[in-house]
Amino acid sequence: MTYEDGGPLVPIERPRRLRTTPAMRRMVAETRLHPADLILPAFLREGIKEPQPVSSMPGVFQHTRDSLRKAAAEAAAAGVGGIMLFGVPRHKDATGSGGTDPEGILQVAIRDVKAETGDALVVMSDLCLDEFTDHGHCGVLDAAGRVDNDATLERYAEMARVQAAAGVDVVGPSGMMDGQVRVVRDALDGAGHQDVSILAYTAKYASAFFGPFREAVDSSLKGDRKTYQQDPANARESLRELALDLAEGADMVMVKPALPYLDILRQVADAVDVPVAAYQVSGEYAMVEAAAANGWVDRDRMIMEMLVGARRAGAGMVLTYWATEVAERLRSD
Ligand code: PBG
Repeated sequence: MTYEDGGPLVPIERPRRLRTTPAMRRMVAETRLHPADLILPAFLREGIKEPQPVSSMPGVFQHTRDSLRKAAAEAAAAGVGGIMLFGVPRHKDATGSGGTDPEGILQVAIRDVKAETGDALVVMSDLCLDEFTDHGHCGVLDAAGRVDNDATLERYAEMARVQAAAGVDVVGPSGMMDGQVRVVRDALDGAGHQDVSILAYTAKYASAFFGPFREAVDSSLKGDRKTYQQDPANARESLRELALDLAEGADMVMVKPALPYLDILRQVADAVDVPVAAYQVSGEYAMVEAAAANGWVDRDRMIMEMLVGARRAGAGMVLTYWATEVAERLRSD
């Protein structure tokens, strides 16, 4: 190719100069991952002697009390920022009573992890009923079998109080009930827990990417969550949920899942002045592990690319089942 005057066509701008060496690329990188940005979701199952592998999430376990403490200690040693705890109770019932039992499995998890890691990890808990209900919904049902928003809020208020009493730092209301952040804030404040923060699951979509999680918590859900989780077709609805959560007192907000919703993450991050988290969910984990097990993809690079992508799209923090592994890798780099 030549210019009109016959001279060789040479680019004036050469962006490749800034990609020449690893040192140069590292220096000009706009987005960095740090272990403290990562949050490890973890499951404690009641009444088991050995950790149980979650078959659709190779490398993830339903923990025993001992193995959870060990996993939390490892995460803390790797510099992971926080841990998000889920309980898998032995007994499930219509109201999810295990979720509000002061001796319930999630409260045990909070106390154990706090005792193990002190202030080295931010301890967070899922504030939702689906792990505890026999029908698998995130709330209680009315006589017609529909999820009853306001009756559920009362259960969430009670959950917030018992989780705070167990010593949690941050509660994560994830049930997508209207008014849940306000009710949880009121319940916490009313019980003297003004310092417990709320990480609101602000934009949570009715997603097929939650599939493997249902195995991880032995969910008995039949049907779907489309009357309370958001339609994947909608973006503006997330901004409405965001405005409500902030008005109701959310300290931090979350978008979930991450990979199919990076546009939502960007819009949310641009709209707020509170910390924003992304949840890289079970299905995101499973599809990478499955493809990697077949030798089809470069697992480690793919994981890093997905995490950097979430950070670049506006997430300050990322919940990921790979948190400890990635934190260790970042430390050794
Ligand atoms: C609700 C909750 C779910 C997840 C986190 N909190 C399940 C759901 O809403 O169906 C999913 C997380 C994942 O898929 O990794 N308790």
